[in-house]
Amino acid sequence: MPNSRPARDTAGSTRSDAFVFFGATGDLAYKEIFPALAGLIRDDDWAMPIIGVARHGDVVSLRARAQASLEAHGLADPSVLERLQAMIRFVAGSDDDPDTFRRLRAELGAAAHPLHYLAIPPALFGTVVQLLGRSGCAAGARVIVEKPFGRDHASARRLNAVLRSVFSERQVFRIDHYLGKEPVQNLLYFRFANRFLEPIWNERHVASVQITMAEAFDVADRGAFYDATGAIRDVVQNHLLQSLTILAMEPPSGQTPEAIRNEQFKVLDSIRPLRPADVVRGQYTGYRRVVGVATDSRTETYAAVRLHLDTWRWAGVPFVIRTGKCLPLTATEILVELKRPPLDVFGEREPRDANYLRFRLTPDMSISLSARAKRPGERMVGEEVELFAAHQSGTERPPYERLLGDAARGDQMLFAREDTVEAAWRIVDPILDPPDAPLPYRPGTWGPKAAETVLAPSMRWHAPAPTPGTTVAAP
Ligand code: BG6
Repeated sequence: MPNSRPARDTAGSTRSDAFVFFGATGDLAYKEIFPALAGLIRDDDWAMPIIGVARHGDVVSLRARAQASLEAHGLADPSVLERLQAMIRFVAGSDDDPDTFRRLRAELGAAAHPLHYLAIPPALFGTVVQLLGRSGCAAGARVIVEKPFGRDHASARRLNAVLRSVFSERQVFRIDHYLGKEPVQNLLYFRFANRFLEPIWNERHVASVQITMAEAFDVADRGAFYDATGAIRDVVQNHLLQSLTILAMEPPSGQTPEAIRNEQFKVLDSIRPLRPADVVRGQYTGYRRVVGVATDSRTETYAAVRLHLDTWRWAGVPFVIRTGKCLPLTATEILVELKRPPLDVFGEREPRDANYLRFRLTPDMSISLSARAKRPGERMVGEEVELFAAHQSGTERPPYERLLGDAARGDQMLFAREDTVEAAWRIVDPILDPPDAPLPYRPGTWGPKAAETVLAPSMRWHAPAPTPGTTVAAP
């Protein structure tokens, strides 16, 4: 058990004055954190010590790695690189050695409000948090914790208890980069900046909601991580349930972080824990040959789930989520299917789709409304047309840049709160690690056929549209 007392919450709304990242030589630092830091230096004039902590390496190699990362991401502005490199410091040592933290405290010097970023395996979070507390590095600080936050409901609760013993909730930033995505923010804005949606946004008019997060790529070099994680822990418990909260929440009373996070929590709190019958798990053929994956692995690379929201607004509306690796294309979409008119005036029964709203969250952003419009001619026969309500891509701030900037200012709006994370785990907990093997599916297909069983009888899965200019994998 931790023996350190909660650090005094002096972080308030003051700006962080040092950035510390654990796991500085790791993959996440290379892929996301260095590019985000470069963006913050360029756009927000970030100027503070950036202290990498890792077992091996030194300041020279860390600066070189920062350079390689920026070059790989097309961010080779020499003045930004120079500023970033000048800010970088290094503390060598292992994450469970108190001496590492004593040296970190010394390196922090006069910094009174460090922002600690834990880009490390979740199993180490608890130890690092406790050592931050004991070494005095937590006082006045903030801490960003990466996902997955725990492995299940019980471990997430334990982790929250450890965090709480060292930090106050206002100092804790549980990152979920989906919440930092511009299209997810746009979903929130679109819902509550337009009045026309509200009268139809309920069980009277919405027939079903489906979320598809499809990825055409495999688990590549992340075999060991992924095999211990699986699709439900990797993206359903966090990214997809968080996106769902924004789609389904009640209007917040304002745009304070708590007003919004209260409503997000209420959505998750209303969702019934999943039962085995609500889930279809799949594994693409060839997965077990990936380096780091067990040859008899039962980890799912695909999951389809059916959720039940027990709220006045959504009672009886099927919410389904599917996600997988090695699917035919890469895209995340939310499709809100509306009920059909009560009377079929034009005798156009079947086949025809109902109206829907489609929110495309990745890789490009769009909101579109499908409606029936009459075909020219004497007969009252129509066709489906899609009206683009919004479209934008490529101009938005990358999520990690946005989120690190927010955390350094103490803005918690886009970070998951303690109760929200636990509520999300409570939903998926009963379906984690089942004894049966996932169903096989061929790479380039839409997953196991059995995924249809999670749909309500009147539903079918809608495949997201391919991004213009991309190719769809052949099965
Ligand atoms: C990460 C998951 O959190 O999100 C990955 O670990 C997944 O498996 C990724 O591919 C998807 O994020 P994005 O921003 O690329 O859609």
